[in-house]
Amino acid sequence: MQGVLFDLDGVITDTAKFHFKAWSRLAKEKLNVTLPASFESDLKGISRLDSMNRILKFAKLENKYSADEIDAMAQYKNKLYLNEISKLTQKDILPGIENLLDELAVNKIKLSVASASKNAPFILEKLGLKDQFDAIADPAKVAHGKPAPDIFIEAANKIHVDPGQCVGIEDAKAGVEAIKAAGAIAVGVGSSTDLSEADTVVASTGELTYSVLAQAFRK
Ligand code: BG6
Ligand code: MG
Repeated sequence: MQGVLFDLDGVITDTAKFHFKAWSRLAKEKLNVTLPASFESDLKGISRLDSMNRILKFAKLENKYSADEIDAMAQYKNKLYLNEISKLTQKDILPGIENLLDELAVNKIKLSVASASKNAPFILEKLGLKDQFDAIADPAKVAHGKPAPDIFIEAANKIHVDPGQCVGIEDAKAGVEAIKAAGAIAVGVGSSTDLSEADTVVASTGELTYSVLAQAFRK
């Protein structure tokens, strides 16, 4: 194991609830639909525009709006979301993550962020974690979102490590599929989503240690 590729939302900090709150408000205000609770996990790992299109499909409104109108709605959702994440502090780092980052640094493992979120640099800044990572892959620069492997390949390229020498950490089904498609070892986190394609699954971030990742890699 030479590199670790981190998802952000749901692995480093728990932002899924803020994404869902913002999407729910947008859906109610602009489309007059109520999103079912199951949408929260359905949208995990899915890019902003892909999420918007899934919501329009759910509302049976997929052909009603122009690309510019869809873009404006997605921007409105992001405005609502930014309002929530601007309050994040170091206290919002999920349990075990700071310890894991320290252990990986001691073991000279390169660390890269492979998030679908364009807000990843802002969130890492708020959490005080930006300097702990060697690279952050830019989702705007990759052709296909998760479950395609692109963002994990880009994250590995940015630390100059072959994806086959990396472990990826994910809380989303689409993300685990993306890690596997990139040729890296997948560690899934959480118990509410189907992560059965992962090489190793832990129930919570508190269980993520250097030794768990190294063992997943050797398995
Ligand atoms: C992923 C989240 O990390 O990022 C998704 O799990 C989100 O819910 C996606 O839609 C894109 O995020 P953003 O911040 O660019 O809108
Ligand atoms: Mg996630």
